[in-house]
Amino acid sequence: MKIYDLNNAQDFDVNEISEEFKKSGIVLFKNSGVKCATTFREFVSLFDDDLMDYIYRSSPRNELSKFVYNSTIYPEHKEIPLHNENSYSSKWPQNIWFYCHEIDCEGGETTICSSKEILNELSEELRNRLRSQGVRYKRVMGGMVDLSWQEVFQTEDKKEMEKKCDELLIKYSWDGDKLILENNGLGLITHPGNKQEYWFNQLNLFHPASLGKDVHQSLLNYFGEGNLPRTCFWGNGEKFDDGLVEDINASIEKIKTNVKWNKGDLLWVDNLRFMHGRKPFKGNRKIMVVMTSEFSGKQLVNSIGNEN
Ligand SMILES: [Fe+2]
Repeated sequence: MKIYDLNNAQDFDVNEISEEFKKSGIVLFKNSGVKCATTFREFVSLFDDDLMDYIYRSSPRNELSKFVYNSTIYPEHKEIPLHNENSYSSKWPQNIWFYCHEIDCEGGETTICSSKEILNELSEELRNRLRSQGVRYKRVMGGMVDLSWQEVFQTEDKKEMEKKCDELLIKYSWDGDKLILENNGLGLITHPGNKQEYWFNQLNLFHPASLGKDVHQSLLNYFGEGNLPRTCFWGNGEKFDDGLVEDINASIEKIKTNVKWNKGDLLWVDNLRFMHGRKPFKGNRKIMVVMTSEFSGKQLVNSIGNEN
């Protein structure tokens, strides 16, 4: 990962840094001079002014200033699994930016995993199946666990929610008060810039086998298989083998690296070439996030949907 220390003003050449980013897909700025949400947004805009809202949420966030969000709100003692942002959807940011506003904690590193290296860990058969079928995600909302549909879609209006589902290729149905959502997403992606293929899905994050055998079994006992708050399948609806999910998690664990934060650091990540996550922490940690260069993958998602 290339590191630019902006205490040395001569290091700051937007074009040169953008070229470096195109090559490596990840750049860390030290001493960025960013001090708040507004200056963070301004910094990002120097490189990429196509800033995104966060819709069809998988995790709770607050918008701190236009287009600037806090990082995922998730219990501090738990690790956030590695993921490509919004890869479960038909729209995703091509880039994700993190800015360290405050850091005074044990742990709390941002974890990074190369989406190329994880792909290289998979068998040819597995790669082919992920490429042709992708992943089907299922969420059941209203069971007092996980986010409400109002938070996921950022509206209180059912009609508006249904419109957003249609736009994002999500099938929805109601079972009493419970909302059931199912959608297909990609398994792998070809990068529009370098034309290379990468892992691009959230099967490890959505599948309950990732939570460990005991938690998985408790969820099954409590909700029943058909009503798990979130789970996923092969794109044709077949179940993933638990062992496969465990193997993928073991590979991710082997490959991942940690980014240790200092106040004022800023990390620019190609969302297709790298997954990100978070180590557990104890103390004070404020990381802000901006997502840029929205990509509509409807055509791509529709093409794998036809494999069913
Ligand atoms: Fe994320």
